[in-house]
Amino acid sequence: MAKYLGKDISRVDGAAKVTGAAKYAAEFQVKNPAHGFLVMSTVAKGRITAIDTKEAEKQTGVIRVFTHLNAPKLAFASAKAKDRVAPPDGQPFHALTGDKIYFSNQPIALVVAETYEAARYAARLVTVSYSEEKPVTSIKNSGAKKYVARSADPPAVAEQKSRPRGDASRAFQAAPIKFEAEYTIPIEHQNPIEPQASIAFWQDGKLIIFDKTQAVMSLRNYLAAAFGIAEADVLVISPFVGGAFGMSLRPNQTPALAAMAARELNRPVKLALTRQQMFTTSGYRPDTWQKVSLGADNKGKLSAIIHENITNTSAYEDYSENTVSVARMTYACPNVSLDYKVAVTDLPTPSPMRAPGAVSKMFALECALDELAYQLKIDPIELRLINYAETDPDSGKPWSSKELREAYRQAAARFGWSKRSPEPRSMRDGRLLVGWGMATAIWGAFQMPSSIRIHVRADGSALAQASASDMGPGTYTVITMIVAEHLGMPIERVKFELGRSDFPPAPHQGGSWTTASVGAAAVGAAKAIQKKLVELANRQANSPFKNATAEQLQFENGKVFLKTNPAQTLSYAEILRGSNLPEIVETYEAKPSPEREKYATATHGAQFAEVKVDPDLGTVRVTRVVEATACGKVMNLKTSHSQEMGGAVWGIGMALTEATEVDHRYGRIINPNLASYHVPVNADVFRIETDFVEEEDKIVNELGVKGMGEVGMIGIPAAIANAVFHATGKRIRDLPITPDKLL
Ligand code: MOS
Repeated sequence: MAKYLGKDISRVDGAAKVTGAAKYAAEFQVKNPAHGFLVMSTVAKGRITAIDTKEAEKQTGVIRVFTHLNAPKLAFASAKAKDRVAPPDGQPFHALTGDKIYFSNQPIALVVAETYEAARYAARLVTVSYSEEKPVTSIKNSGAKKYVARSADPPAVAEQKSRPRGDASRAFQAAPIKFEAEYTIPIEHQNPIEPQASIAFWQDGKLIIFDKTQAVMSLRNYLAAAFGIAEADVLVISPFVGGAFGMSLRPNQTPALAAMAARELNRPVKLALTRQQMFTTSGYRPDTWQKVSLGADNKGKLSAIIHENITNTSAYEDYSENTVSVARMTYACPNVSLDYKVAVTDLPTPSPMRAPGAVSKMFALECALDELAYQLKIDPIELRLINYAETDPDSGKPWSSKELREAYRQAAARFGWSKRSPEPRSMRDGRLLVGWGMATAIWGAFQMPSSIRIHVRADGSALAQASASDMGPGTYTVITMIVAEHLGMPIERVKFELGRSDFPPAPHQGGSWTTASVGAAAVGAAKAIQKKLVELANRQANSPFKNATAEQLQFENGKVFLKTNPAQTLSYAEILRGSNLPEIVETYEAKPSPEREKYATATHGAQFAEVKVDPDLGTVRVTRVVEATACGKVMNLKTSHSQEMGGAVWGIGMALTEATEVDHRYGRIINPNLASYHVPVNADVFRIETDFVEEEDKIVNELGVKGMGEVGMIGIPAAIANAVFHATGKRIRDLPITPDKLL
């Protein structure tokens, strides 16, 4: 019986977070810091013809103003490969490296001063002239054919995922039942509460940097390449991240700029961004147009899915959402084609944002399926069961585990789906229209190579370290639990540290893979520690375990004993003291098991929403969300429920409120703030019920962890849009579903 795993465990870092003891990037105290503030472009396309910094430099406290004219040239070309795991095709944008303007609100100068206020004031005094060109920032309402796609082929990363299955256009033509529709999703921004920030200083040729990052190791390697120094000569420190959701996967603009200025000025430099600056410096969910064509027979069996997708990218990189493939794995349809194009716009490069690609794809696919269900007069769940993928329809491989059918059943029962009357506008609560909708969620079950180091000490404590990141899902807690469980130690005596590049390498936090990846390493390291403890014990004359096999031993509560004789124990501390050792240390690297290759792996969810719509005002409230998630073993029920709730809230925002508005005349974002970019607030969130359908999965890894987090939001926007149709009879295919669209 597990002592900790699968239980409700409160966050081990909770007290530090609520008391302010947890330090975020901009909060570290360094001696004599100088403060930076960025100057941003006011035009979206063109060149800087002149930049006048004299007035700014004259101000009290201003130390230096860096522009493309005087900033040292860093080796960014060689840093590119280190820019996250798979940077998009093209050349990343690096501030202050040239006179070209690629987007409005682009960083063009860095003012460094004795105080933040002095830097910010002086930044306003920098005057810039441009030769201006007309920007193109819209892919909407211009017709698919007119989109300026860089090439007719899908971008490299999407290419492999977009191989057609069967002959979708022929099957579509031949299908007795056809459905076709277009869906659009606006640009959305991650908007974490913690702004992007870095504090950098140099010590004996080494760079030390506090930064907000989801990718400690790739940031280290990137900075080392940019500054032409050894990777070991960069120390990235990032113990806490106040939300990121994809915006801190790639190196942001601040670390290289802060490090450059710190080197030039020979003192620590702190550079933090404003909310407004974050809208054009760290990516966003791209502007997305999709067309879904479904072919089916009269009984609802799908024969063709044609899914076309265009997302915007920047003028300098081809960003594509390579996770779109999950949608291909959802239904057993023999003929599927996926077409992906990027449209070049004069905006910064998009980035992954919570459930990237998948939530967008599934919004279109799951709405289309709902529309097909109405066309066929089949219950939406029934239609999904008719097309249930018993094996992975793409590879033909069996699933390592898949309890989606049970998830549909449980969520439907909890939601009360059987009481739904299918006709639109048929359910009411007083004068409000009531709508019930559902959708499927699917995400991968990823694992990345990861290491961890564990120290077990003679004082009866343990310390584990990995260069992982915790942007909020509860990585500190879950890895502490796994280490305690698998070492056989009380959780209070175990500490897990992360967020430093001098810890053993761990993957960046993304894709919902951290628990599986770092957790697998923790299991391996714990086993190695236990083996060593027994070896040490057996070197002592009175060892009770001399002839014991591994299976005969048990490790619990910091003690080892024979299963047949639990009364005679040796504590880890006793073993270490008996061996005259202050501690033992093991580092372990876990890699995804080759066994996984024989299987298809994915996580699934059945997601239901209830909406109440005011027929006079067109306002939509999501009064209830019910989710059942099948994601292997759940390690920490409490934080996992929180992740699911967070997913539901993200879904409410995507469905109803979130949109980054661009004034296409000037190519400028006009709502770069939390006052006019609307994320759901408490008043928008009612009842959320989340549950897990446990899967025993021995294939994915020893822990049986498939990962969760992102899967919790993937079906929600579609479920809400479907519920809105059920409530109102109006099909809104253009997110967000704002009152004007319903009236
Ligand atoms: Mo996430 S979009 O995998 O940071």
